[in-house]
Amino acid sequence: MPEKLLYELSIPGRRGVRLPEIDVPLADLPEEKFVRNDTAPLPEASELEVIRHFTRLSTLNHHVDKDFYPLGSCTMKYNPKINESVAAMPEFADIHPFTPTFASQGALEIAFKLGEALKTITGFSGITLQPPAGASGELTGLMLMRAYHAKNGESHRNKVIIPDSAHGTNPASIIFAGCEVIEVKSAADGTLDPDALRDVVDENLVGLMVTNPNTLGIFESKIREVSKIIHGAGGLMYMDGANLNALLGITRPVDLGFDVMHINLHKTFSTPHGGGGPGSGPVCCTAALEPFLPVPVVVQKEDGSYAQDWDRKETVGRVHGFYGNFLMLVRAYTYILSNGKNGLEEISKAAIVNANYIRVLLQPEYDLPNADRCLHEVVFSADNQLKHGVKALDIAKRLLDFGMHAPTVYFPLIVHEALMIEPTETETKEKLDEFIAIMLQIAKECEESPEILHAAPVTTPVARLDEALAARQPNVRYKAEIED
Ligand SMILES: Cc1ncc(COP(=O)(O)O)c(C=O)c1O
Repeated sequence: MPEKLLYELSIPGRRGVRLPEIDVPLADLPEEKFVRNDTAPLPEASELEVIRHFTRLSTLNHHVDKDFYPLGSCTMKYNPKINESVAAMPEFADIHPFTPTFASQGALEIAFKLGEALKTITGFSGITLQPPAGASGELTGLMLMRAYHAKNGESHRNKVIIPDSAHGTNPASIIFAGCEVIEVKSAADGTLDPDALRDVVDENLVGLMVTNPNTLGIFESKIREVSKIIHGAGGLMYMDGANLNALLGITRPVDLGFDVMHINLHKTFSTPHGGGGPGSGPVCCTAALEPFLPVPVVVQKEDGSYAQDWDRKETVGRVHGFYGNFLMLVRAYTYILSNGKNGLEEISKAAIVNANYIRVLLQPEYDLPNADRCLHEVVFSADNQLKHGVKALDIAKRLLDFGMHAPTVYFPLIVHEALMIEPTETETKEKLDEFIAIMLQIAKECEESPEILHAAPVTTPVARLDEALAARQPNVRYKAEIED
């Protein structure tokens, strides 16, 4: 049964509030020509009906507060509620972006200190908190790289190398930055192949863009050799930091040879995401790229106060309004402070242990192209199940019937029938065991009764949607029937 709209529950005359009798003179209505009589009818319902309606709606979609959400590459970890309490404080939530510097010292302090913490975590010396998403961080990083080459009289450099395992935003950002994408094939073990890189580097190289650990959840073990090849050709190393959840406190991107990276606060640092935002994708860089950072940069003055530095002649300009999505910065800073250095390291270790636990226990049933290792996420192939006519998509849909979100499917593109599972550190062993048991039951169903898989999901409010159509032509408008 399709979910009813509040308009459809409406009963004329039903009320949620009782207003007192009017005890002031009635004002004259404006002139007739200004009065509309085609206004949309408002639904009429009791307070309880409205509460129940919206509470029910809030549970129709899956979310991490409801159950397991192993959507690989997205790091859908639990967002601690203390982050929300702090971000909701009126001192942060109500601050106006045009508040003068002297009256926004607390907000500037948070931005500055978050920047310092992220610099410590990554090892870089420069940072901007402006980009509102990972993809926007990628574009910003590429703009810094291009500005750097231009300053060195090498504006002709226009090629950026990516591996064939790259996330889709990487080539898109490269094109947006006005560059050409050079895709190289990964080695048989799923990591970057230094020989393939040697074949394509030349004097037109802007740099390399790579996720580490990569989208197969594997650490790029030859990254130092790779960085020598790229730097040797005058290029720069960009790290897509969406997978930083595997590295916190264990290694620093700067030590691996990277020059610039973005961080997804809305993944690694637990700020909520999904459904289109808001996100935050700060960009960290080496001293050589710092002059080009977007303005304003938040700085601390000698007297200890905070200021916005606009006076940066080589800046690439602004990439977003003000400091980016400020409340995401507040949430991320709260998360970093509440975990501390040791806590952050524990986070990465637990994320890695959890993914490996799943890897080992599902391996007997699900094909694993890179069988011997993974970091924070594990990528299976549904090829074993395909033999019974069941696709990765069917498995994903069946999981919904068990009240769990599906893993990412069909990505990375280099794994056939990919099922990309990222449990994150926030799940208990019991929840992982429950997920594993469900996945094993599904594998059995694939062999014995594949029709169950083809019919799934049967417990969700809607079954199989044309997701591409829904995204491109969303119909979100309720058209009230207005009587003439
Ligand atoms: C590996 C990787 N890179 C980049 C991005 C882009 O981040 P955002 O969605 O914040 O633009 C994602 C997001 O899914 C990702 O997983």
